[in-house]
Amino acid sequence: MSHDAPGLRPHAAAVDPSRHLIGLHDMPRERMLALLDRAQHFADGHDNRAALAGIAVCTLFFEPSTRTRLSFQLAAQRLGADVLNFDASTSSTSKGETARDTLKTIEAMGVHGFIVRAREDGAVAALAAEANPGTALINAGDGRSAHPTQGLLDMLTLRQAKGPDFPQLKVLIVGDVKHSRVARSDLHALRTLGTGEIRVCGPQALLPDDDTLRGCTVSHDFDAALEGVDVLMMLRLQRERMEEGRVSSLDDYHRDYGLTTERLARAAADAVVMHPGPMNRGVEITDEVADGPRSLVLRQVGNGVAVRMAVLEALLGHPR
Ligand code: CP
Repeated sequence: MSHDAPGLRPHAAAVDPSRHLIGLHDMPRERMLALLDRAQHFADGHDNRAALAGIAVCTLFFEPSTRTRLSFQLAAQRLGADVLNFDASTSSTSKGETARDTLKTIEAMGVHGFIVRAREDGAVAALAAEANPGTALINAGDGRSAHPTQGLLDMLTLRQAKGPDFPQLKVLIVGDVKHSRVARSDLHALRTLGTGEIRVCGPQALLPDDDTLRGCTVSHDFDAALEGVDVLMMLRLQRERMEEGRVSSLDDYHRDYGLTTERLARAAADAVVMHPGPMNRGVEITDEVADGPRSLVLRQVGNGVAVRMAVLEALLGHPR
């Protein structure tokens, strides 16, 4: 079940990227690499328990989540923060309180970090524009716009698996790119890191018709698009954001765009498979591939904690 973030209007104005993390579109390459290096340090088992000592953060989620919410909680706890979890379904938003008033109320308790997931595009930037000067907001996914920490953890996972030479890589993103905030953040990050070739494949109705795919090789033929790719990024059909009729049947979708072991054989011999989760097994990916030796799905989940530690430390750590 989803919950609106009441009173939040989409907001296109830029917010200070040194205070907030809204998306990866404006993140310089040096900052991205520094965050990935720091995340790798945490992934290697180092910690920094004093970084957020005395700081309180709140997960403010207006849409469901398993991975993002829990890994942010764990990351904040590992940095020494106090963590509050806001549950939209049992909060005073159900009595009409706006998201802005919710933010202001929790800020008044002395909370300085907010990890926000919202259904509407631009809603996290809108909320960031309302925040006090000492507050940091991190976008944990807004509509179809951005999911920056997922983009960063995907780049960390890819770098671990394939090394840092992104210009040598052929990456294929498959499926419902139109409704995917993950794909948009991955595309920004892949371009920033200089990926050699970015291919995108899916049915016409599930590919964006704006400039999201600029510079990508676009195809509707999955078998052809697979030839020689090093990395496959599979996407779920995001039916919660989809108009009726965009997909005729799940069986047809699986036949045309489902990743099977047979299909995977068309990719490079050492190709790896990524998926941000949650997976719809039997639709975009079979059990055999999802649980197979080429799958990085659980490595992505583990890296989520390390990347979120790096982001929280950078935005909220001492000294600020
Ligand atoms: N990848 C991702 O955002 O998963 P959750 O919706 O479970 O957080």
